[in-house]
Amino acid sequence: MTQRSEIGIGLMGMGVVGSGVARVLMQKSRHIAQQAGASVAIQGILVRNLSKPRAFEVPRHLLTSNAEDIIGNPAVDIVVEVMGGEEPALDYIFKSISLGKHVVTANKQVMAKHGPDILTLARKKGVQLLFEASVAGGIPIIGPLGKDLLANDITALRAIINGTTNYILTEMSLNHSDFSIALKEAQAHGYAEADPRNDVEGIDAAYKLAILSTLAFHTRVRASDVHCEGITSLGSKDFRYARELGYNIKLLAIARQEKKGLQVRVHPALVPQQVLLAKVDGVFNAIEIEGDLSGRVVFHGQGAGSLPTTSAVLGDILEIARNIASGISPTSSLLLREDIAIKPITELNTKYYMRLNVADMPGVLAQIARVLGDLKISIASVIQKETDEKVQAAEIVIMTHTSREASMQQAIQQLKSLDIVRNVGSVIRVEEWS
Ligand SMILES: NC(=O)c1ccc[n+]([C@@H]2O[C@H](COP(=O)([O-])OP(=O)(O)OC[C@H]3O[C@@H](n4cnc5c(N)ncnc54)[C@H](OP(=O)(O)O)[C@@H]3O)[C@@H](O)[C@H]2O)c1
Repeated sequence: MTQRSEIGIGLMGMGVVGSGVARVLMQKSRHIAQQAGASVAIQGILVRNLSKPRAFEVPRHLLTSNAEDIIGNPAVDIVVEVMGGEEPALDYIFKSISLGKHVVTANKQVMAKHGPDILTLARKKGVQLLFEASVAGGIPIIGPLGKDLLANDITALRAIINGTTNYILTEMSLNHSDFSIALKEAQAHGYAEADPRNDVEGIDAAYKLAILSTLAFHTRVRASDVHCEGITSLGSKDFRYARELGYNIKLLAIARQEKKGLQVRVHPALVPQQVLLAKVDGVFNAIEIEGDLSGRVVFHGQGAGSLPTTSAVLGDILEIARNIASGISPTSSLLLREDIAIKPITELNTKYYMRLNVADMPGVLAQIARVLGDLKISIASVIQKETDEKVQAAEIVIMTHTSREASMQQAIQQLKSLDIVRNVGSVIRVEEWS
């Protein structure tokens, strides 16, 4: 392949990330050219609204609202998709690759649902598809999983990969805020969208976990395989009680290789205060990987934001640009094993924290212990937290030994039907580190 002195970029999207990418490509053009070994120039930018003011203003002639101006432009070597959403982004990526263009994308939804198919097409067409920014913004994690950690058998992956929920949980923990107040705070700071469901219900984290697990375990994991629970039912009291017991509460994304299959789940969890993930606060993200050779490694940093995400996108652009400039043509590949069975959540064995509101009268604990005991759930400790004499109610927190999820689900239903149980406040899984 011939060497090249100028490489053309077609940018799709000029929002939070696209503006950052355009700014860095234009303002740091000398540094970029030095690192790429060729000049890297934007040939066109796709937007919806041509007259909207931009965080970084670009020459007007670069803007277009017609995707064909980017995909069909022979001067565009690398299409950078930072539009978001499944369609038409997926269609544009497929078309670009089909026409022999390299692609960089930050799109977790597209990669979680269609990543293996797009990578297969890229391999067939002899082009690269890179997607470092699709998980955890500025934190390098896709690259390390695909290269530096590749010789490992990865046994487990535990991560905080949604900055919005981590900000809300940090507020609830440090400032004793209720969920709705912490959410409003996150929205006021621009960390949560007006419709926050994707974040607070754990869906965004499930997409990212699907991408990470596919790479870590070399098997196809779909977002729909991930058991997903959000943070909306946590009460501010849970944070106080958890702290007294030596834990913080985090929305964890967990993937673990077990004998009979793979566990992939996103849910709130009690995390021992001394482990690194318990100390990841605010909008920060962290991913902990356990490999048979590397041992435990933790990647920590800013999981979103214009410049951190631009850092990841530009890293991918530079990798492709260097290859084009030096005339080598590596393709993207994802060599997957046969599908590994995904274990249902009911087969999980873990410890639990339960907060119950019960009648304040003799014999209550015996009734609760009988329900749990009959289902082979053994109690590690019971603490009475608060009593309300006016309504003769007490709040108790139960910590269990390792129990089966299916039994715990049954126990919750049975406890709810007892007259002495006014309310099952929270049931939170406890994640232990050995
Ligand atoms: N924001 C972050 O911190 C972050 C972090 C990691 C990954 N990401 C990912 O990066 C991608 C972009 O996120 P963002 O926050 O930059 O989004 P954004 O601010 O909403 O910007 C989206 C841009 O794409 C354009 N666009 C959207 N749909 C279009 C269509 N159908 N035709 C033409 N143009 C279209 C919009 O044009 P108009 O401006 O004209 O409306 C806008 O410029 C998403 O996949 C996101 O998940 C974002």
